[in-house]
Amino acid sequence: MRNYDLAIIDGDGIGPEVNAQAVKALEAAAAVHGFTLTTTPYELGAQTYLDTGTLIDSDTISALQCHDAIMFGAMGDPRVTPGILERGLILRMRRELRQQVNLRPVRLYPGVPTPIKDLDPTRCDFVVVRENTEGMYVGGGSTVHGGTTNAVALQESVNTASAIADVVDYSFRLAGQRRNKLTLCHKKNVLVHAGELWQTIVDEHAARYPSVEVDYVHADAMCQHMPMSPERFDVIVTDNLFGDIISDLGATIQGGLGVAASANLNLDGLAPSMFEPVHGSAPDIAGRGWANPAAAVLSAGMCLAALGEGKAALALENAAASVLGELRELAGPGMGASTDELGDRIVARITSDVTEIDTARISIMTAMAAV
Ligand code: NAI
Ligand code: MG
Repeated sequence: MRNYDLAIIDGDGIGPEVNAQAVKALEAAAAVHGFTLTTTPYELGAQTYLDTGTLIDSDTISALQCHDAIMFGAMGDPRVTPGILERGLILRMRRELRQQVNLRPVRLYPGVPTPIKDLDPTRCDFVVVRENTEGMYVGGGSTVHGGTTNAVALQESVNTASAIADVVDYSFRLAGQRRNKLTLCHKKNVLVHAGELWQTIVDEHAARYPSVEVDYVHADAMCQHMPMSPERFDVIVTDNLFGDIISDLGATIQGGLGVAASANLNLDGLAPSMFEPVHGSAPDIAGRGWANPAAAVLSAGMCLAALGEGKAALALENAAASVLGELRELAGPGMGASTDELGDRIVARITSDVTEIDTARISIMTAMAAV
């Protein structure tokens, strides 16, 4: 029987609460669809850092490297200075495991309330492909005359042609499996050096993928077009910072952080990809059973798609979407059920049957993670 070896990193706050539901749903999907899972927990995050002073060491990175995939909850704790966990742990894992693509689908599921008035769910189904290892997030720069009124802060953006080309090529291949539309999002009228490099590489690839229609939208204009005309987009490719910002807007359009799923995809096949909800550790609601597990479960669906279990991936997505569509509120005490109860409801709806329409959807899902 097929077996997949998963690393489980719960992290902090609501991370363990939602990741437990994701793993529960994965186990259920495995039972229904005829494969098995091996899971290995890793104690990483704020508590481990506070207890031991260690974020992550190279032995742990090497151990993570050997798994088929990683399921990650969230990290962050008010007792830890902002930036320490993000840079020292999350960004380090993404970099060392060469997870060059951060993939964030923006899909409005039927019945899920969106703040965009009268938005028909069929108009909203696109993905943001965010470059995941470079840009402003590398941390290059310096502070001169710090602490004085003459302080100068220099923050550099790193843009490597080869890394951009990998992400752009992935995006074209993905668009080719979807609706054949690719949009570059940048701010090339102001960030002229980085913008020109991104545009040049997109243009080079456009010639190699003639069936894909290509356009360009500035990042600020994107914040207007995404909510007003989401049907305009299929695959949006962008850098690390713009991708972070516009995908949070995407999460809002699709009903909030309780719904937004993501994958950090390794493209060379030599290290695992990592799947996580877009949201953070939500310390304001941790420990109360108020966290919506759907984003984590939908991320688990992406994990199954990446592992080649398309039917099971779709079964998970459908189960989570149907439970989401019934909630009164998408987060907090008004959801009408606890995190764990919602996990159980999702599990109860994981089925084995697949219709013809579903087959088309499966190929879109698996393409996401395996092009
Ligand atoms: P957050 O995403 O943790 O929470 C923002 C708001 O949304 C909060 O009011 C929270 O209660 C709510 N929320 C988030 N997920 C929810 C869910 N599943 N169900 C119901 N409500 C939910 O972002 P915030 O508050 O800015 O950051 C908290 C901590 O998380 C910080 O330490 C931050 O650095 C970290 N963080 C970690 C991320 C990661 O692990 N990849 C990503 C984003 C933030
Ligand atoms: Mg963010």
